[in-house]
Amino acid sequence: METAPQAVDWSALAEAATAAMRNAYAPYSRFPVGAAALTADGRIVSGCNVENASYGLTLCAECALVGNLHMTGGGRLRAFYCVDGGGNILMPCGRCRQLLYEFRAPDMELMTTQGIKTMDQVLPDAFGPEHLERTR
Ligand code: THU
Repeated sequence: METAPQAVDWSALAEAATAAMRNAYAPYSRFPVGAAALTADGRIVSGCNVENASYGLTLCAECALVGNLHMTGGGRLRAFYCVDGGGNILMPCGRCRQLLYEFRAPDMELMTTQGIKTMDQVLPDAFGPEHLERTR
């Protein structure tokens, strides 16, 4: 029997992403970002961007989020929400879509500026761990 996908409290995720954004270290871009995700087992993990004087070393909010995911028990991401400094929905950058893809739950959804989308919609034809298996 198939289990129904876990319901997502999007406003709780928006709140967690906004709280995370307030911890951002973004003195160079002055563009704070916060990201939050619901894990498949019901936790909320979050992260903020952390910039560096060597600009290219900037860590996006999603980097901290996936680190937080692993530091708090690992698992899979069921739903994702990202905000800018004004608390507005922000699209994850291309690199971060790939970071999220690695840890997606099969039914993962993302809040986007165009409404709720699936991982496949925001990163179609993705490269993933399964492709490494094929060439070995
Ligand atoms: N940024 C993120 O944290 N996540 C994204 O998905 C988009 C961009 C950050 C990186 C940088 O500190 C600032 O936004 C401006 O690019």
